[in-house]
Amino acid sequence: MSPHILVFDSGIGGTSVLAHIKASIPSAHFSYVMDNALLPYGLQSEQTIRARLAALVQYIDEQELNVDIIVIACNTASTSALEATRQLTRISIVGVVPAIKPAAALSDTKHIALLATPATSNNAYTHSLIEQFAQGLRVDLHHSTALVTFAEALYWNRLVEDAKVVTELHRIAIAPEVDTIVLGCTHFPILKRHFEQFYSSDVKLVDSGEAIARRVQSLLAQAGKYTMILCERDLSRKKPLQFYATAPDKISFTEQEIKLISLNSISY
Ligand code: DGL
Repeated sequence: MSPHILVFDSGIGGTSVLAHIKASIPSAHFSYVMDNALLPYGLQSEQTIRARLAALVQYIDEQELNVDIIVIACNTASTSALEATRQLTRISIVGVVPAIKPAAALSDTKHIALLATPATSNNAYTHSLIEQFAQGLRVDLHHSTALVTFAEALYWNRLVEDAKVVTELHRIAIAPEVDTIVLGCTHFPILKRHFEQFYSSDVKLVDSGEAIARRVQSLLAQAGKYTMILCERDLSRKKPLQFYATAPDKISFTEQEIKLISLNSISY
């Protein structure tokens, strides 16, 4: 049996991470859970996010989904609740956190910016990443909730007004000395074209997608499941991606079947 990888986000941001994992492990079985009832997570408290992830773990157990790896494909959820969630389950969990370390290594001007959600840019975990991996660099913190909304609109309606994105990027006003921007929200790679048009071609945009795919591969290898993936050549027998959502409002936008679930069940 191919390994089962469950990717979680508040919305569709995690699909930017899912794409990297699928490209490197195409024969795995994938589930995607979005907690769109509480979107955007960037405006939620740590306590709320921890409770939602606890409920997710409980749901996986109750439904016997046989998940091998949970990928919390959300910087906000990972920086708020990764350690707490790991205490609740024996399933391996891979968190997505802002790529401060690779960005620091890439920067020539030693001046980088983190663009994330309000919760991610304010939380202690993010500040500790900066202290640990960006010593001697200047790191500017910026946040945006509007960019999350635009990425959602682009994904579901295939439409976002370029002018609105440009206005938001002007408001964010990243300093011209910055040569490397950490896209510290998994929704943001979905707007990559907009960023590339707005910022000079010298500015490097860094996200965590590829590194996460490598981490998932190495965990599967450790668990003895990677050789099995390489042997399993018959992709036609693979199960289709199962989508789950916590609110029905997006379901009508897609031909993909989405299963409605609740993550309200427990308090943390
Ligand atoms: N995609 C998420 C992240 O990586 C969260 C966006 C949101 O719900 O605010 O932070």
